[in-house]
Amino acid sequence: MFIITLPASIYAIIQYMKILGIETSCDETAAAVVADGESILSNPIASQVEIHARYGGIVPEVASRQHVLTIIPVVEQAMTEAKVSWGDLGGIAVTRGPGLAGSLLVGVNVAKAVSLAHGLPLTGVNHLEGHIYANWLTGHIIDFPVVCLIVSGGHSDLVLMRGHGDYVVIGRTRDDAAGEAFDKAARILGLGYPGGPAIERVARGGTDCLNLPRAWLKGTSDFSFSGVKTALLRLVEGGKISSPADAAASFQAAVIEVLVNKAVTVAKEYRVRHILLAGGVASNGLLRQWLASDSTIPVLVPEPILCTDNAAMIAACGYYHFQAGKKDGLDLDVIPSLKLA
Ligand code: KG4
Ligand code: ZN
Repeated sequence: MFIITLPASIYAIIQYMKILGIETSCDETAAAVVADGESILSNPIASQVEIHARYGGIVPEVASRQHVLTIIPVVEQAMTEAKVSWGDLGGIAVTRGPGLAGSLLVGVNVAKAVSLAHGLPLTGVNHLEGHIYANWLTGHIIDFPVVCLIVSGGHSDLVLMRGHGDYVVIGRTRDDAAGEAFDKAARILGLGYPGGPAIERVARGGTDCLNLPRAWLKGTSDFSFSGVKTALLRLVEGGKISSPADAAASFQAAVIEVLVNKAVTVAKEYRVRHILLAGGVASNGLLRQWLASDSTIPVLVPEPILCTDNAAMIAACGYYHFQAGKKDGLDLDVIPSLKLA
């Protein structure tokens, strides 16, 4: 057996590219430092959820003001926890859309200021692309092509990814996003906001016995979740719900059955190597469990804290932007309705 000892000078030239990520698209103020698009050095997230909970949903004006108050401390925390100084960074990645305009503006302007002050390259990241890249933080080697099921408060998309930055949207929701449907159903059942975690928690004590409709939309890979929500509303209005736990379990099962079935069908059709889960709804335990058991293709799921909004996923995505030479200037602007492909 040969043991090769490398001279110390070799280690000195192995540099990790550390990226500062900034995410303020909705109601989480987040910053993170990630090395080489895969190792999280810090990932602080300041949640506004309690502030918005009393209104039953996100108030955009309140969200942007809260971002202004928290963004500098959160960025400082990310730098301190990662034990890096500005000179150690290889670049800044920031969410430019989709999201709330006023919220996005806070992150983008801070990123531009830091980029200008410290001479660091800047790249704008699509929030959905960021959610996908949370999978690169799982420690697994990912082979292309993959299919990504992005399920968040604003989106339900099935995306074929043939390489870094190469996306084809195969299916999307025609009405409510999956997370939005969870939030609305929770409101109908009086379970509070955010609805997804509340439904999941309450559903543990119930069974899927209400026979809520599944919108298969045969022949397409699109989704529709407004029908199941309306069916639930009718049952509540008709006084037909005796157990909120059964209602939550039935609703959850109706949404997840369709998500899993369509994701597995598309994955087989395109002969992908992996199925990647992304977005806030991906932290749902039943979705993770059903997808893993229904699919013969390996399923990757980031840990729950990396499924909901965070900046580590933005930094990971930014690393691949920089590798591909994708940089933005100080004219980088927010695009609230930015599309993925
Ligand atoms: O990705 P995300 O944090 O923000 C957006 O980009 O939208 O997703 C938030 C959404 C909310 O609608 C929330 O109810 C849902 O994700 N969510 C869940 C769970 N945790 C969060 N839905 C179902 N089950 C969960 N455990
Ligand atoms: Zn998100």
